Amino acid sequence: MSATKPRPHSPSTSPIPIRNFSKERYVSREWMERERQALWANTWLVAGLACDVQEAGQYFTFEIGAEGLIIARGTDGRLRGMHNACTHRGTRLVTEPIGILKKIVCPYHAWAYGLDGELQGAPGAARFSNGLPKRELALHAIEVEEALGLVFVRLNPGGVTLTEFLSPVFELLRPYRLEAMSITNDQTVTHTCNWKAILDNFAELYHVPFIHPIHRRMFECATAPIELFEHGHTAVYVPGGVTDSGFPTPDAPTDMQALQLQAVGLNPEDFRGRVAEIRPALQRAKRAIANEQGQAYAEFSDAQLSDIWQFNLFPNVILSVTPESAWLMRSRPDVGDPGKSRFDMFTLVQFQGGAAEAQPSKRAKGKNGVQIGTHFRLNGPRPADYKRPQRDCFTHEDIMAGRKSMTVTIDEDISLLARVQQGMASSGFQSVWLSDEECRVQHFHDALDACLSAHHG
Ligand code: FES
Ligand SMILES: [Fe+2]
Repeated sequence: MSATKPRPHSPSTSPIPIRNFSKERYVSREWMERERQALWANTWLVAGLACDVQEAGQYFTFEIGAEGLIIARGTDGRLRGMHNACTHRGTRLVTEPIGILKKIVCPYHAWAYGLDGELQGAPGAARFSNGLPKRELALHAIEVEEALGLVFVRLNPGGVTLTEFLSPVFELLRPYRLEAMSITNDQTVTHTCNWKAILDNFAELYHVPFIHPIHRRMFECATAPIELFEHGHTAVYVPGGVTDSGFPTPDAPTDMQALQLQAVGLNPEDFRGRVAEIRPALQRAKRAIANEQGQAYAEFSDAQLSDIWQFNLFPNVILSVTPESAWLMRSRPDVGDPGKSRFDMFTLVQFQGGAAEAQPSKRAKGKNGVQIGTHFRLNGPRPADYKRPQRDCFTHEDIMAGRKSMTVTIDEDISLLARVQQGMASSGFQSVWLSDEECRVQHFHDALDACLSAHHG
């Protein structure tokens, strides 16, 4: 693995040429088809969480465009990936997104498969004059590998190994121990924009002062360092516990800084006239609490204790991490409409002591330890009644109407993105015009272009 420390640069100058590109990639069905054949079929993709397939029989499904996949751990302990399509006449076999199975039985004519994908039996076998050749009729296998607590799949074999693909970011993400986190929220929203509009949105902070007013009260977005990596990945390192330098510095802690201070047992009143001291104070307090809780924070720098590091993993995953929690967001294309997508959000929490801890600690009984699912809070032990949440699926309209929420910030992004797609469809818009600050957007699209050329010409 190559990188162990970030080597970021200022967002004010792009290290790569800003080339811009036409709107075709967001609105054209031909482009969508190129992506299907070249990108989705040949790239390592995050299919789901390793914690969902720990035990024999556990499985989850993953859909990417028209492709449906089953990821399952067999009775032999091996994790396998296979197409979710019966080899008799094609029926989608499994519809529940997560669960436990002994075998996979097709609802149509009851062909039965093992979790290794082997055909185990077909009713009326003697009536198949062509026989039932096992090898040919096994569920079609795909590559599957685990890394960083995530399960990756690749539909077509070949190309870089997963280790190689993740090497630029692996050592930066490893200390966050996603594999030891627990999922506390699992949401999917169907959206009315192209899947890449979502990735673009999470590849720049240029929009933040205008649609996320809460951020200026707790993050420094104006100068947050960014980094471009090989294979199309990018990162932004966002200082927390501060107010944004694009706005006047307040005399007293903002409401959000006050919440951050209280979360680690500090009194906001003590920082009146000293708001510049909040970030280091948060870092010191958090390290002290972590030591008290016996957490392994040795691998984190002081900055990591107060800041949010966000990684965009090519092509379609956004990972926003702190030592205590993570958001894994993923954008997926629709089956046939370039103006639609699905956006997944997994909320992950690092409970103190991991899953094995059962007894509440002294700290966890207080007001700081029990609040979960929010960046910057130290968590207590995993509650005894913890259950993996079911997936909540809803529409973009549900968010607009306030019936569903994916947090204030994400709701603001989701609300805006439908308007992006509407404007892109207009004849008055032909191509993007990016700033240097949006070089992460450019880098992502450069990697996409390279992938499409490599596999499609
Ligand atoms: S389509 Fe699956 S058993 Fe017939
Ligand atoms: Fe945003």
